[in-house]
Amino acid sequence: MAIMTSPQTYQPVLDRIAAEIEKTPGRGRPADYIPALAACDPRRFGMAVAEPDGTVYGVGDWRQPFSAQSITKVFTLALDLAREGDALWEHVGREPSGNPFNSLVQLEYENGIPRNPFINAGALVVTDRLHTQTEDAAGTLLDFLRAESGNDRLAINESVAASESAHGDRNAALGHFMAAYNNIDNPVPVLLDQYFRQCSVEASCADLALATGFLARHGIRADGTRLLSRSQAKQVNAIMLTCGTYDAAGDFAYRVGLPGKSGVGGGIIAVVPGHCTLCVWSPGLDERGNSVSGVAALDRFTTLTGLSVF
Ligand code: DON
Repeated sequence: MAIMTSPQTYQPVLDRIAAEIEKTPGRGRPADYIPALAACDPRRFGMAVAEPDGTVYGVGDWRQPFSAQSITKVFTLALDLAREGDALWEHVGREPSGNPFNSLVQLEYENGIPRNPFINAGALVVTDRLHTQTEDAAGTLLDFLRAESGNDRLAINESVAASESAHGDRNAALGHFMAAYNNIDNPVPVLLDQYFRQCSVEASCADLALATGFLARHGIRADGTRLLSRSQAKQVNAIMLTCGTYDAAGDFAYRVGLPGKSGVGGGIIAVVPGHCTLCVWSPGLDERGNSVSGVAALDRFTTLTGLSVF
């Protein structure tokens, strides 16, 4: 196997992966809990790699905006950690849950403290705390994504947000349950509105690979200012590795070997600390909510390039 380390080689690697994915049958099923996601064509595929200096390589539908969904949980975590630091960890844990992303089952045993910031319960806690800090969690997220990607047109799809809300009973249950344990600051309907708008950000692979760049640059934003300490950036990467793909995190680490975060829109971001960030999109999901072709493409990327944290 050829080990490729020069950035000049990213384009041929991306082209090769796209050609291989094109030939792969059985690409999973789009999320069907809201019509906007169910309508996505599972054959769509895009992938982008961003270097720490902002150079981006891409293939396929890499400039096509899609619903970022749970990928945004990485950015709200970083934005809240940057503001309140370790105080956050009194309200949410850092252990893999081993359960589906929308599960309620652990919360009662664990007194309303979610296992980690990437399952829905934990993300609700993070968004709640960010909203308390900023008075506009979703707007703070959007500003950050626009600044890091350099794309001012990046936006929240309000009709997707309304649809999320109309089908949001499990998230509402999680929010009210944690409020009963005094682990939510804001009124639950306010929090849910922020969370659904956060999930409904639309961005492309290029946008999200660029916006993730601070995690490859050890906490440094695109403009050279620091968002996270080096240690905090390491911590966020570690939580992505152990919790970013829910009850499939072990298999993702085994196959891909990178910190990664998936969303039910079919996107996955991944980080090669010090080297590059990636985003892949293909709407067909496996039964755990991770993009089938997305995981396969990242698996091929780390195999072909030898770039992984292991
Ligand atoms: O909270 C939800 O149900 C969705 N809006 C987001 C879930 C999601 O992307 C989980 N990821 N795989």
